[in-house]
Amino acid sequence: MVDLQEIAEQVRNCRKCDLWKTRKNAVPGEGNPHAEIMFVGEAPGENEDIEGKPFVGAAGKLLTKLITEVLGLKREDVFITNIVKCRPPQNRDPTEEEIIACSPYLRLQIDIIKPKLIVTLGRHSTSYLFSLIGKSFSSITRVRGKEFEWKKDDNTIIKVFPTYHPAAALYNPNLRKTLEDDFRKIKSILT
Ligand code: URA
Repeated sequence: MVDLQEIAEQVRNCRKCDLWKTRKNAVPGEGNPHAEIMFVGEAPGENEDIEGKPFVGAAGKLLTKLITEVLGLKREDVFITNIVKCRPPQNRDPTEEEIIACSPYLRLQIDIIKPKLIVTLGRHSTSYLFSLIGKSFSSITRVRGKEFEWKKDDNTIIKVFPTYHPAAALYNPNLRKTLEDDFRKIKSILT
């Protein structure tokens, strides 16, 4: 089986969709290869595209704060990635085609890391993970804050916990409070 470095190299050389034409850097993801918890966002934004690292802009700072202050973990303890590894121009939503082209990288990362829990941030990654679980997805508001189970082909079970994308909570105090509540639930799932 390939390792995380090889996947990162494949992602950096990837031309499976057109996003390679406009990206500065692909963003494979980073963190502990043995992480118990994996965070899956949507796609890199401007700062991530420049740095080649996930969640380093304003939304990333909020995510990092929640990881450290609510979960009591360090960023390096978890694994952080996105469903689409290259920045869509002007931060538009990723297309279905881009998600289909890119998602095999996420599947490989999950197979290697074997996390106990995947936290999906926002509707795109939640909708994709739900398609793997065989659940229909309607809206993030309906499913956030609840725990789901993904029984994989090898019979291992990974918990999936959807919550809001931190970017949505940046300027909305109500969503921010809900996001904090969800992180407290994540802490109780992990302990
Ligand atoms: N938003 C995302 O979904 N992912 C990032 O890496 C940064 C912002």
